[in-house]
Amino acid sequence: MSKKSSSGPPHPDVKPATRFVTGGRDPQAFHGFVNPPVVHASTVLYPTVEDYEARNGRYTYGRRGTPTSEAFAGALAEIEGPECAGVALLPSGLAAASLALQSALQSGDHVLVTDNVYGPTRKYCDTVLNRAGVITTYFDPLIADIAPLMQPNTRAVYLESPGSLSFEVQDVPAIAKVAHARGAVVLMDNTWASPLYFRALEKGVDLAIQSGSKYIGGHSDLMLGVVAANAKCWPQLNHTVFSMGLCVGPDDMYLGMRGLRTMAVRLAHHYQAGLKVARWFAQRPEVIKVLHPALESCPGHAIWKRDFTGACGLFSIVLKPVPQQAVAAFIDALTLFGIGASWGGFESLVIPFDCNEVRSATSFAPGGPTVRFHIGLEDVDDLIADLERGFAAMAAAL
Ligand SMILES: Cc1ncc(COP(=O)(O)O)c(C=O)c1O
Repeated sequence: MSKKSSSGPPHPDVKPATRFVTGGRDPQAFHGFVNPPVVHASTVLYPTVEDYEARNGRYTYGRRGTPTSEAFAGALAEIEGPECAGVALLPSGLAAASLALQSALQSGDHVLVTDNVYGPTRKYCDTVLNRAGVITTYFDPLIADIAPLMQPNTRAVYLESPGSLSFEVQDVPAIAKVAHARGAVVLMDNTWASPLYFRALEKGVDLAIQSGSKYIGGHSDLMLGVVAANAKCWPQLNHTVFSMGLCVGPDDMYLGMRGLRTMAVRLAHHYQAGLKVARWFAQRPEVIKVLHPALESCPGHAIWKRDFTGACGLFSIVLKPVPQQAVAAFIDALTLFGIGASWGGFESLVIPFDCNEVRSATSFAPGGPTVRFHIGLEDVDDLIADLERGFAAMAAAL
């Protein structure tokens, strides 16, 4: 974890994509090398007793920060923008979500959580937070006026926009306005858009969470989580992470930082390729609906248009009713799409899903079987040809 340098980013006026390249870099501090060293460290030595007792020196212990963690967290803070007071690095996206919630809540509090929240985050709320005396109420992600849901002890509102299976886009500024007026903090899982396409802290989010295992890593070889906090929430977040003894290994931090440098370019490709495939699906006779925030058929599309500047490669489709074995035949016939639950890597992925398993305040009745896709960095025409083969296999299985 690290606090952004008080002098602010060295390139204050550049666009967000440029910050992915320039953020956190100080080559002169490392003999001119473009990238900082990967510092494997626990103990820090002092030359004299006097220095030790005064803790003279920039670093005191590996867990408290190294040149590697500072460079990575500094880059992430610059990318988040001027509202960011600090970034915590965690060993996974789920750890980032649960830690952020823990930092904002205590026994006796109530938290409002969007009903389309990532399943394991829901589980954390229902078990660990519940045991700690925090009560969770889930709410319809499409409700913009949360005032009637706020209780006197509601201290936090947790958002995920869009949801990573059903893709409802939430009215974050409207929700944040009510939450703040009642003294609650706003947390948001911003993994889907990242700060490149949704400026969470600027839009009223106090704690912006990303699973770094997705696009930050970008190569399906990393587990990592990050929480960016504004000035109001940074001290408590920093204290909570420190008290829990949480830190990330230097090689993983380095992989995360390496991923950041190409993330804006990769996301631009995921965005365009994903949109092309989503539009192709929208005109297929087998498909009822495409749940891609950039398409009108997606709940909350108007809000996406107002608040977001892009999309990643993750979206879902609703098929016309067909037996489950036909859906399986479609998916099994695909050769360029791996069957896997994660996303954000260079490769295309597909999974069938039923999000009613992870809902309680709303029910998801899309009218047919649902399938989620991650569009990777392959040639998009090859992907479409593969999907055509999949639909042929589905037809043959009917
Ligand atoms: C939206 C979302 N948030 C958080 C996570 C958790 O991230 P991690 O797998 O890094 O713990 C995931 C993982 O799939 C996710 O899809």
